[in-house]
Amino acid sequence: MAEERKTYYITTPIYYPSGNMHIGHSYTTVAADAEARYRRLKGYDVMFLTGTDEHGQKIQRKAAEKGVTPKEYVDRIVADTKELWKLMNVTNDQFIRTTDDFHVKAVQKIFKRLYDQGDIYKSEYEGWYCTPCESFWTETQLADGKCPDCGRPVERTREESYFFRLSKYQQRLIDYIESHPDFIQPVSRKNEMLNNFLRPGLEDLCVSRTSFDWGIPVTFDEKHVVYVWVDALSNYITALGYGGEDDSKFRKYWPAQVHLVGKEIVRFHTIIWPALLMALDLPLPEQVYGHGWLLIDGGKMSKSKGNVVDPRILCAKYGSDAIRYFLLREVPFGADGIFTNEALIGRINADLANDLGNLVSRTVSMQLKYFDGVQPAGKRFEDVDGTIRDLFADIYGNVQTQMDALQFPSALAEIWRGVSRLNKYIDETAPWILAKTAGTDPEAGARLAGVMYVLLEGIRIISILIEPFMPDTPAKIRRQLGIAGRPELTLWETAASWGVYPDGTKVEKGEVLFPRIDTEKELEELDRIREQAAKAAGQTSPAAGGQEQAQADDKNDGANLIAIEDFSRVRMKVAEVKSAEKVEGSDRLLKLILSTGSEERQVVSGIAKYYSPEEMTGKKVILITNLKPAVLMGIESQGMILAASKGKKLSLLTVDGDIPTGAAIS
Ligand code: MSP
Repeated sequence: MAEERKTYYITTPIYYPSGNMHIGHSYTTVAADAEARYRRLKGYDVMFLTGTDEHGQKIQRKAAEKGVTPKEYVDRIVADTKELWKLMNVTNDQFIRTTDDFHVKAVQKIFKRLYDQGDIYKSEYEGWYCTPCESFWTETQLADGKCPDCGRPVERTREESYFFRLSKYQQRLIDYIESHPDFIQPVSRKNEMLNNFLRPGLEDLCVSRTSFDWGIPVTFDEKHVVYVWVDALSNYITALGYGGEDDSKFRKYWPAQVHLVGKEIVRFHTIIWPALLMALDLPLPEQVYGHGWLLIDGGKMSKSKGNVVDPRILCAKYGSDAIRYFLLREVPFGADGIFTNEALIGRINADLANDLGNLVSRTVSMQLKYFDGVQPAGKRFEDVDGTIRDLFADIYGNVQTQMDALQFPSALAEIWRGVSRLNKYIDETAPWILAKTAGTDPEAGARLAGVMYVLLEGIRIISILIEPFMPDTPAKIRRQLGIAGRPELTLWETAASWGVYPDGTKVEKGEVLFPRIDTEKELEELDRIREQAAKAAGQTSPAAGGQEQAQADDKNDGANLIAIEDFSRVRMKVAEVKSAEKVEGSDRLLKLILSTGSEERQVVSGIAKYYSPEEMTGKKVILITNLKPAVLMGIESQGMILAASKGKKLSLLTVDGDIPTGAAIS
């Protein structure tokens, strides 16, 4: 009987389809893809799952803002998300949408079962809700009255709700985490979960909502929809057919080897999810790995802050292999890292164009020049060649150790140890000197053949080891090595053997693998692209430097007529300035706290040269309420106030007569 292959089930979080995906999102998925590819190369039967998390209040609101149904809204973004993964060479085996019928039915079954067995009960919820994070918080958990995760305002919620008996699982969770040291990785996140959440005590979790309806209905009480995190976390098993007609995949792949997630959602994956699995009497995933964030301008990259970097643009400019390399090389996996265009271009030029690209092109050129491209049989090796062989054996072992522990940057650093060594070897052996006498001196000819062999064999091994990270590059290298049609020479295991490259093989000059980038020119270009994106995300208010734009717009008004429906998409309200203060480090910006009657908003406005904070307090202003939030000087601005400006004059728009705060403007 054939031996069954070992299975490996790896997941990414399922993404909120709340706008264009940024490079931070690609981080988890590219990492998971590298691991999935590595495991496949090692012969595992891999199941790699990703998808989209499509329900919840946040999506419902966004769709309403856009004047479309939630389903219409998510459909478009899901299509873009799938395109992005294709562009980035992501090889997920399945893409789950939480609006998939099979998922909806399975979640309903799970909810009903937990209710029937008494793990879910009905009561009333009163507390705070952060809609962007879709998280419930108690009074004491709030940080300065704001969401402790994202720092944004929370909403008071009081609803009849179903609750999951999370508290019942507290001790079992603690015991499990303590007796399974690998369950939460890195270790720092494990300690955080134990000390900050589990040991202080768990409260039962509100698992249904009635104040909106974009969710999975509770079958036995249809005015309730299932809490979006219960819906979302279940995807890891419903995707495998759990609760459906055919659960063969579930039986084959569950429990998962690893849920790869960003650090802010480790809490959901290591407390709520295992408790739900315990209640369902199912085994827990082997590991939840919480990686760090890619930061930009000192903060988390996020669409709502208007500081995103679009992976599509980067892939189009530099190729997805270069972007994947950068993401997985630059930042120690598990820690936060800063994304800068300088670092990206620096890595591409140094590691890819210079180190790897040059190694391949120099080697191929020399082989063509000295041996018409064909590797001769009569080779002479010296001691140094043995040290290189040993180094590559060492690298092969280390790459595997690092990949087994999801340490992508360390695995890449190992591979580049080989790249650097070969480059140095060229300088040490100076093949061009051997070539001078190779024609007349058979000793020198044999040595030259030996040197070229070491280089070609080393590059062959590198082409295998980089495959999980840079799936397009190996084929290009192998074409140049002349082994493109010989897959048996590039199986993963063959990276452990030295001496596989066959004599008589003919190399071929190929394209430049990674063209060198003109750093200065490219940085300017990237800055320009980012400025445009920031503008599109609403970072400049008319008062904050939009005057030239306004003048240009005047001329174009005739050509830019909008329909009344377009205008009505802009939501405006009368708001009262509760407080105002200068933004430190800026002579242009004031930070305003505005009240619209039903809520408070923080707005950063470029009016400091025209109005003092004292003058602003108590003023009634016109606030655009559905503008995407933006970050100015590190402060989130949740809307924009209107002002008229000409030349050096600026005057705020306000209302005539007595009209209450919160009145809509139409
Ligand atoms: N929908 C939830 C996950 C449900 S899983 C059952 C969610 N979605 S998300 O779209 O907000 O985030 C998806 C993943 O992208 C998370 O792992 C998150 O940490 C990651 N990232 C989003 N921005 C990021 C950075 N700037 N840097 C690194 N990863 C970040 O959470």
